Amino acid sequence: MAVREMAPKANGEACGVCGGRTYVIERRGDQAQARICACSEHCSVCGGRGHVLVEREGEFSQKMGPRRYEVMETCTCTKLRTRIARFDALGLPASAAHANFENYRSYEEAQDRGRSVAMQFAYQYVQGGSSKGYIISGPVGTGKTHLLAATLAHLALELGVRGRYVEISLLYATIRRGFQEGKSGGEIIGPLSEVEVLAIDELGKGRGSPFEMETLDELIARRYNAGRTTLFATNYSLEPERRAMRSAAPSGYRTTDDSRSAAREAELLRERVGERIYSRLCELCTFVEFPKETPDRRRPRQEMNAPMHHAAGNGRPQGR
Ligand SMILES: Nc1ncnc2c1ncn2[C@@H]1O[C@H](COP(=O)(O)OP(=O)(O)OP(=O)(O)O)[C@@H](O)[C@H]1O
Ligand SMILES: [Mg+2]
Ligand SMILES: [Zn+2]
Ligand SMILES: [Zn+2]
Repeated sequence: MAVREMAPKANGEACGVCGGRTYVIERRGDQAQARICACSEHCSVCGGRGHVLVEREGEFSQKMGPRRYEVMETCTCTKLRTRIARFDALGLPASAAHANFENYRSYEEAQDRGRSVAMQFAYQYVQGGSSKGYIISGPVGTGKTHLLAATLAHLALELGVRGRYVEISLLYATIRRGFQEGKSGGEIIGPLSEVEVLAIDELGKGRGSPFEMETLDELIARRYNAGRTTLFATNYSLEPERRAMRSAAPSGYRTTDDSRSAAREAELLRERVGERIYSRLCELCTFVEFPKETPDRRRPRQEMNAPMHHAAGNGRPQGR
């Protein structure tokens, strides 16, 4: 990784601030933003010019024999600046600023799988090729947004990929505003259809109005047709049948209220987004589903360790 080669300080020690990564990620307002670490602000390779002269040797004619010549090459510090700009353009929320693969913890086997699916995607991503995306489904606070953010951050900072993160209700709101300004849906969706890797968070959320369904359908169809990769996270279940409803708890424990909330919980993504979109997702994405009992990381630890079925309702808030 060329960017990392700049990392060690002159005395060979990695920087204590960035750990040798040469950049720092921080919260700025409601966004996660990156900046060059102080240790790497001054580039000793190019002296701040952004490019370097590299000496090459080549043979142009037999008569002249091998000759040395110089070419201008982009310095690693320029690449770093580009990658930081790519990171800033992701639109990651401030709450995901620290998210990476290393600090992701698994409490369930499915979370382990989620992490490896996301990591494999990120590490094996080839620019310009067509990679299969992933969709992670699970209850609140289980690190779905964390994994989307970790993936996009890796792609931007290590490969310079142009990616984008969108929370679906913000997307709908932006498009609605655009309509009011006289823009067409296509005009607003256009740029999002073109980013190399798009992460759509909270898929299935919303009112399910015809406007929302058409917007989503158009966006996914455009990306699908262009062979671009889209990643998703959702609170809705991917299971092909309402299996979750039957298996929640021994039926003796359950009141009518419990069964009602279980039915709501088991709501399927397929029903939320419609057959057309769901069918495309099946083709475009690797599916990962975290079980209902996966602990919510936003809750205090004592509560997390308490047996879930003793908590009121079924131990988890319904939606947000
Ligand atoms: N498995 C995990 N390992 C490390 N941190 C986690 C994990 N799960 C959640 N977190 C942290 O907890 C917070 C909430 O996680 P995150 O936003 O990713 O949850 P989510 O699954 O997207 O929830 P929601 O369904 O409500 O959107 C974040 O700060 C995230 O970094
Ligand atoms: Mg989330
Ligand atoms: Zn540093
Ligand atoms: Zn340089």
